[in-house]
Amino acid sequence: MKTTILLILGGVFFAQVATADIVGDRENGRKVARQCKTCHGSDGLAKLPIAPHIGGEPAEYLIRQLTAFRDGERHHEMMSVVASGLDDQSIADVAAWYAGHIASASLKPGVNAADAPEACVGCHGSTGIAEIEDAPNLAGETAMYIDTQLKAFRLGKRHHEIMSDVAADLDDAEIRAFAQWYAQSNLSVEAVE
Ligand code: HEC
Ligand code: HEC
Repeated sequence: MKTTILLILGGVFFAQVATADIVGDRENGRKVARQCKTCHGSDGLAKLPIAPHIGGEPAEYLIRQLTAFRDGERHHEMMSVVASGLDDQSIADVAAWYAGHIASASLKPGVNAADAPEACVGCHGSTGIAEIEDAPNLAGETAMYIDTQLKAFRLGKRHHEIMSDVAADLDDAEIRAFAQWYAQSNLSVEAVE
């Protein structure tokens, strides 16, 4: 009986923070997020065009990116500095905070979901809300951000077993077209306290 309850609770926690050893504390994550909100907002809707939206992203994805910035596998002049001050627990906490908001998206009137890039929809959806656990949402990110990330995967500056292969096959025109598709999608983030 006791074991069953623990297993169920364990399942719930893992679903929230998606890491086997560290359980994210969302309340503490809200405090950590004070360092993030000038750029990403408190609900994860970005305040600067160069900062991506992170509200409602899978916790597993957020943890992986923050760890990659901290450990130098992904580099950005602002984020590398921010992440260097975070330990694993703070990363799990702040990921739980941002992942706990709810993201949804809709296409601009007149834009047809059937025209969404076929090579991407299986994982990123037609509106840019992820269909699989460890993929990020792309909805409403700037075309510049999406373009830069795809080129970083293609160049090997950013690495991921799936995305590096996907990006290796894309030319600049395809990258521009896919970036514009997801940039035009309207993202909304429902803040969850
Ligand atoms: C000074 C502005 C600034 C601050 C403060 C900041 N960020 Fe960022 N963040 C950025 C920018 C710019 C990027 C895009 C980096 C790139 O182009 O690779 C980014 C990227 C990210 C990403 C990757 C998102 C993705 O879709 O891949 C995550 C996750 C993230 N930030 C989380 C945080 C968290 C958590 C904090 C607070 C602890 C924080 N950031 C503080 C500017 C900021
Ligand atoms: C089989 C699943 C899959 C397919 C297909 C796929 N992606 Fe991804 N994508 C991912 C995953 C997983 C990540 C997270 C990579 C990481 O952790 O660094 C990602 C990351 C990205 C990012 C980085 C987003 C950010 O916030 O930094 C962009 C941009 C992107 N994908 C665009 C595309 C485009 C455009 C296509 C179609 C040409 C595509 N992806 C196809 C799974 C996929």
